[in-house]
Amino acid sequence: MRLLVCGGAGFIGSNFVRQRVDEHGDEVVVLDKLTYAGRRENLAGVAHTFVHGAIEDPDQVAGAIEGVQAVVNFAAETHVDRSIAAPDAFVRTHAQGTYVLLEAARAAGVRYLQVSTDEVYGSIAEGSFTETSPLAPSSPYSATKAGADLLVSSYFHTFDLPTLICRGSNNYGPYQYPEKLIPLMVLNAIHGDRLPVYGDGMQVRNWLFVEDFARAIGHVLAHGRPGEAYNVGGPDECANLDVVRRIIELTGGAESLIEYVADRPGHDRRYSLGSEKVGALGWAARVGFGEGLERTVAWYRDNAPWWEPIRSGDYRAYYERQYGRALGAGGVSGS
Ligand SMILES: NC(=O)c1ccc[n+]([C@@H]2O[C@H](COP(=O)([O-])OP(=O)(O)OC[C@H]3O[C@@H](n4cnc5c(N)ncnc54)[C@H](O)[C@@H]3O)[C@@H](O)[C@H]2O)c1
Repeated sequence: MRLLVCGGAGFIGSNFVRQRVDEHGDEVVVLDKLTYAGRRENLAGVAHTFVHGAIEDPDQVAGAIEGVQAVVNFAAETHVDRSIAAPDAFVRTHAQGTYVLLEAARAAGVRYLQVSTDEVYGSIAEGSFTETSPLAPSSPYSATKAGADLLVSSYFHTFDLPTLICRGSNNYGPYQYPEKLIPLMVLNAIHGDRLPVYGDGMQVRNWLFVEDFARAIGHVLAHGRPGEAYNVGGPDECANLDVVRRIIELTGGAESLIEYVADRPGHDRRYSLGSEKVGALGWAARVGFGEGLERTVAWYRDNAPWWEPIRSGDYRAYYERQYGRALGAGGVSGS
């Protein structure tokens, strides 16, 4: 199959492209704007055609979509903290960008899969969300992702475009940009930097290893029913503070590196997805959180050339703004 993968140079997109090319022999065209989170290095050694462009640019999209059988859209701004500081790019990419892609898929008459998130449902104290739960997003990130989902569904109902939506829970694994919780904590722990934990650290997430999510997306693309959304939850739940403690154990860091910082505004307390619907299609997670976290820590430890340019570039300024502390300046002093 020939696929157009938008946002394929990011974390989940690059894992998906690697899997499709290596395990399924697909031909892949990657369209990516290469924001701070998109990197050609993420696709090193993977055969693909690369188009440097934005999904909100109709000309770029028209060129990239030629001859493909399906479009998979990962392209997004993905960091909740950045959506609070500067929501405009989130509106542009998720609303305008998704619209342009849908129009192009409609003109080409091809299947369209939108990669979405559990955050569109908001927080849940107990139990798990199903695909019929109401959308109740709480950040500019999740609100614009929810808007994109609704637009995708409208193209199925109004124009008969064969659309699919995959809503994943929190992903982790190789190639994740270090602003996100797990790689942030792994790299800080390796360097002896402080580990900034928001609020009381008891925000619970439903952790999903990235290769499992990538497999689910491929599975839904092949077997999903057009017009439907599929939740893809991870096999294990874990509070952020426990995630940090496990990382400390795996990296040999010290508990005293933990530093509690002011909570994120509107921080959702718990996310949880039921995966029965995608399970009925024949998908199941293969990697538990314990194994996945060990593999992730090992990957970051073994791939310094991947993260060194990030930790020494613009990311330093972002980090200082966000946490009020310079990277590399926060080793433990024995207290
Ligand atoms: N990371 C998670 O835990 C998670 C969980 C569930 C769903 N998702 C969803 O999965 C998708 C991918 O997430 P990720 O964590 O890999 O993100 P990421 O930030 O690592 O990668 C996003 C990619 O999209 C590209 N991009 C951004 N704006 C673009 C635009 N306008 N045009 C073209 N390319 C653009 C970036 O350059 C980057 O390569 C997103 O849609 C996200 O909402 C993420």
